[in-house]
Amino acid sequence: MVSLGNEAQKTDFEFTNTWFVGARPIWAQILKNLRPRRMLEIGSYEGQSACFLIETIGQMHESELHCIDTWQGGIEHGGINMSEVERRFLNNTDKAIRSASHKTTLKVHKARSDFALAQLFVQGYEGFFDFIYIDGSHQAPDVLVDAVLAFRLLRKGGMMAFDDYLWSENLPGGPDILRMPKAAIDAFVNLHFRQLRVVMAPLYQLYVEKL
Ligand SMILES: C[S@@+](CC[C@H](N)C(=O)[O-])C[C@H]1O[C@@H](n2cnc3c(N)ncnc32)[C@H](O)[C@@H]1O
Repeated sequence: MVSLGNEAQKTDFEFTNTWFVGARPIWAQILKNLRPRRMLEIGSYEGQSACFLIETIGQMHESELHCIDTWQGGIEHGGINMSEVERRFLNNTDKAIRSASHKTTLKVHKARSDFALAQLFVQGYEGFFDFIYIDGSHQAPDVLVDAVLAFRLLRKGGMMAFDDYLWSENLPGGPDILRMPKAAIDAFVNLHFRQLRVVMAPLYQLYVEKL
């Protein structure tokens, strides 16, 4: 299992990568200011970002966290045993919830994100969430659907964060614009220009606030 460096989490989690390590100080600052109670994440994998939310918000107050994932992996996860990834997600989030001072209600949606987001919309979650993290499929058409649907579930003043804004595959012919999130995130931001403010774009991430 990987070491998370100086800011290592208190609990003994099972994580096999360091994808989220760079975002930790940025999230710590954002969450301190936003103090979200209702959170949604698209793409949970082993629960590294989810556990950070549970641990950080769990020091502040009670909260509700919805995690959407197929646990089938994206095209970049070939060869990974996704049943094991899902098992680690369940164990890790369980440990985080048990060690936090305040209760987190975790709602797991094991489904494709377009289906789960549409279901949440129909169930009355429009404008419900304070913080939404988009880190599911990295294919441009999927990212566009995630962004457009999730934005409808975000409250005014809430924040939505995209991971991997500049991510691309190492393909023989160079990057394929349809197999990376950037074109979709740009299209979403441009078309919602009057309803959002781009807050910052550190590292490979982009953060917007709903106006
Ligand atoms: C990069 S990982 C998420 C990493 C996680 N946020 C973390 O901090 O470790 C992307 C996840 O998105 C999921 N995924 C890919 N396409 C999806 C889709 N269309 N709907 C739901 N989940 C999807 C994959 O199964 C994978 O677990």
